[in-house]
Amino acid sequence: MKSGPTGSRIDATGGLVTGTSSDAAFVEFQRVQKSYDGENLVVKDLNLAMPKGEFLTMLGPSGSGKTTCLMMLAGFETATHGEILLDGRPINNIPPHKRGIGMVFQNYALFPHMTVAENLAFPLEVRKIGKSEREEKVQRALDMVQMGAFGSRRPAQLSGGQQQRIALARALVFEPELVLMDEPLGALDKQLREHMQFEITRLAHELGITTVYVTHDQTEALTMSDRVAVFDDGRIQQLAPPDQLYEEPENSFVAQFIGENNTLEGVLKSVDGGKCVVALDDGSEIDAVPINVSQPGERTKVSIRPERVEFNKDRLSPEAHTLKAVVKEFIYMGDVFRFRMSVAGNDEFIVKTRNAPDAVRLTPGQEIEIGWLAQDCRALDA
Ligand SMILES: Nc1ncnc2c1ncn2[C@@H]1O[C@H](COP(=O)(O)OP(=O)(O)OP(=O)(O)O)[C@@H](O)[C@H]1O
Ligand SMILES: [Mg+2]
Repeated sequence: MKSGPTGSRIDATGGLVTGTSSDAAFVEFQRVQKSYDGENLVVKDLNLAMPKGEFLTMLGPSGSGKTTCLMMLAGFETATHGEILLDGRPINNIPPHKRGIGMVFQNYALFPHMTVAENLAFPLEVRKIGKSEREEKVQRALDMVQMGAFGSRRPAQLSGGQQQRIALARALVFEPELVLMDEPLGALDKQLREHMQFEITRLAHELGITTVYVTHDQTEALTMSDRVAVFDDGRIQQLAPPDQLYEEPENSFVAQFIGENNTLEGVLKSVDGGKCVVALDDGSEIDAVPINVSQPGERTKVSIRPERVEFNKDRLSPEAHTLKAVVKEFIYMGDVFRFRMSVAGNDEFIVKTRNAPDAVRLTPGQEIEIGWLAQDCRALDA
């Protein structure tokens, strides 16, 4: 038995042990499954425990089940199997007006017959907040999303990005304990999006709001979140803080999905404790760390980040295996140099170096040797 992120027990298959919900969890999914048609599971076995105040992002390809999870948590869909707990109580037993959940939908759903200010005042009226306090909170929420002058407009008189900002303000205006946001910044330009990313995380942390955030944008997920849950095919593939997710992906899907990644395919030749040797398909050998492969003879995809590849021999350990590489392209990006190389049959192998005073500019056609620290190279499932 090992301990989960919030102290809840996790069994050998990685599932949370039901019936032992941890005291610290504010939101908890226990073995949740969802089928819309009674046949296909779009959420397969979801286990997740979030402490109060956490900012958690669900990141994953289209159709992987992210919105479905939010809808079940908000109470708009019911789980086919399993249980969802809010503050230790099954969500089904909590009446909607007592759930204290603010939500930004993927298609922002403002009330079309109400003005912007009326849209924002609505959740406050439902909670019986007096007029003057209501007006003050509405104005503060509008200012926060830089829409202070738009209170009297109707949603149809706003651009998509402006509507999205109003939807965000409406979800936060009543200072909910839990906020669910489904792609809330998709319609905004880069500058405004970055500003709102900062504002959302600042507000969430300041007010102690627990947040479940959904995005396709991995940079957004890495920069905003305490933890990121990477979804694929109705399952969480990995749940970890951003740095761990990027530096220690646990399977090939996560390695490919998060950040830029080089993949070399081969067969596990030998395993010795925390290290292994992989025989690549072109016959060359490299050092790596076995992550979710263990048997010699097993096929593997090794994963190495572009910024961890070294072509300066002085920086490599003398016993490290190196590979021959041919430079195909040099791309000057200002702060970094980006090289595309042909390595062990892969013509899309990327190497990045910082534009330091002594940085070497390799030229196309040049033949070099590259290598890395074995601990930066991960042998994953093929
Ligand atoms: N109301 C519904 N009835 C039937 N199937 C549905 C319904 N809503 C979603 N699905 C299906 O469930 C799966 C998961 O959908 P979901 O909306 O949760 O994905 P998502 O991860 O939010 O995707 P996206 O990133 O495109 O928004 C998809 O295959 C989708 O077609
Ligand atoms: Mg969705």
